[in-house]
Amino acid sequence: AQYQTTAYRASILHFVDDPAVSQTPYEYYEDGVLVVGTDGKVKAVGPANTVLNNYPYIQVVDYSGKILMPGFIDSHVHYPQTEMIASFGEQLLDWLNTYTFPTEQQFSNKTYAKSVAKTFINELVRNGTTTALVFGTVSPNSVDALFEEAQTRNMRLIAGKVMMDRNAPDYLLDTPASSYTDSKALIQKWHKNGRALYAVTPRFAPTSTPEQLAKAGQLLREFPDVYMHTHLSENKAEIAWVQSLFPSSTGYLDVYNSFGLSRNRSVYAHGVHLRDDEFQSLAQTGAAIAFCPTSNMFLGSGLFNLQKAEQYGVKVGLGTDVGAGTSFNALQTMNEAYKMTQLRKAFVDDPSTVNPLKAIKAYYLATLGAARALSLENQVGSFKIGNEADFVVINPNATDLLKFRMQKTNTIEDKLFVLQMLGDDRAIQNTYVMGKKQTVNGYGSGYYQY
Ligand code: GUN
Ligand code: ZN
Repeated sequence: AQYQTTAYRASILHFVDDPAVSQTPYEYYEDGVLVVGTDGKVKAVGPANTVLNNYPYIQVVDYSGKILMPGFIDSHVHYPQTEMIASFGEQLLDWLNTYTFPTEQQFSNKTYAKSVAKTFINELVRNGTTTALVFGTVSPNSVDALFEEAQTRNMRLIAGKVMMDRNAPDYLLDTPASSYTDSKALIQKWHKNGRALYAVTPRFAPTSTPEQLAKAGQLLREFPDVYMHTHLSENKAEIAWVQSLFPSSTGYLDVYNSFGLSRNRSVYAHGVHLRDDEFQSLAQTGAAIAFCPTSNMFLGSGLFNLQKAEQYGVKVGLGTDVGAGTSFNALQTMNEAYKMTQLRKAFVDDPSTVNPLKAIKAYYLATLGAARALSLENQVGSFKIGNEADFVVINPNATDLLKFRMQKTNTIEDKLFVLQMLGDDRAIQNTYVMGKKQTVNGYGSGYYQY
């Protein structure tokens, strides 16, 4: 049945543009149909009656009463940190030393890496996330393990080996030369292998020498369509450290810019403390920000200024940043994004300038917005005809409280907001990758559908 052209009937939502710039950013069909071809791609989407008239003999999977939307895209996450999510008490730099580095050491063991990769991919599926931009560790084994696991599901995943040659324990350090050679071999093995894509991944400026950042720039010149993935301006102590390590730079972003690391397909996690000229520079170079609210709150990093990113036209996608982030779930991540915009009002001079994050923008950031941040909008993130049919079926009545509260909603935007505040993995009924229903440990991906 998976290999026939199939129609999925549900309330269908997807985005066609950014709510910040368009009056009609989304299409919503309360009784809608998504048609997926035998190639796993979107053939049609629209009102059920109209679409089904064109496909009189099609097999229909009935998800009436459920919301069907493009699979969520996590624009920044660390798979090796799955086992250290929810570690108490430290902010960024101490948290890295106390928890992260010892954890990441284990991934030179391929068998170990494979077992964590499997758990990680299962969590993505259970949470309706079908694409992610993922940090490995310094060990190439970690990247092989992850891509091998993703390929068992044919997932569109972007990942890379960490480049890190200073300011971390010896057991995790590479060198400029070895990081170049290892990254290049992984690019040749994995980039565009099936749906896999590679990201050149210097951890962040403090853990790379100028020589290593130059090697990262060289890789991007030699392989112009790979990604660049790192961290930027997350924490105030981190920013001061970068200034002391690169005294001639004019700021944190300038360090990366000076090695040619900013362009389309460059993704910077966080950007919590960016200056105006840095927002402007990101817009000019085409680099994107991964906005990671649960992480920024968990590590006490600060309150990202999403409105400023909009003002400057910087591409933004939503990210979980697990294991500093506290949930794999996009709904929970949007929940904290909303609260962050509320909290910003307490810290700005003029609270009337801060607008609470609208549900419609939050869902955009987790789907089409993230796809654009990753330059993948012609593959995933919306139901544009020809896109790969990665989608999620959400039960808006998954819990007693959701069901009770939903009775008092009227518009789809009301429903989406309630879902983002009260929903979690229990609301993710099914996840489809290229039109194929996913299972976790042999069960349907809706945890609570067992
Ligand atoms: N900056 C450098 N490495 C990391 C990491 O692993 N997590 C987060 N949140 N920030 C970082
Ligand atoms: Zn991170």
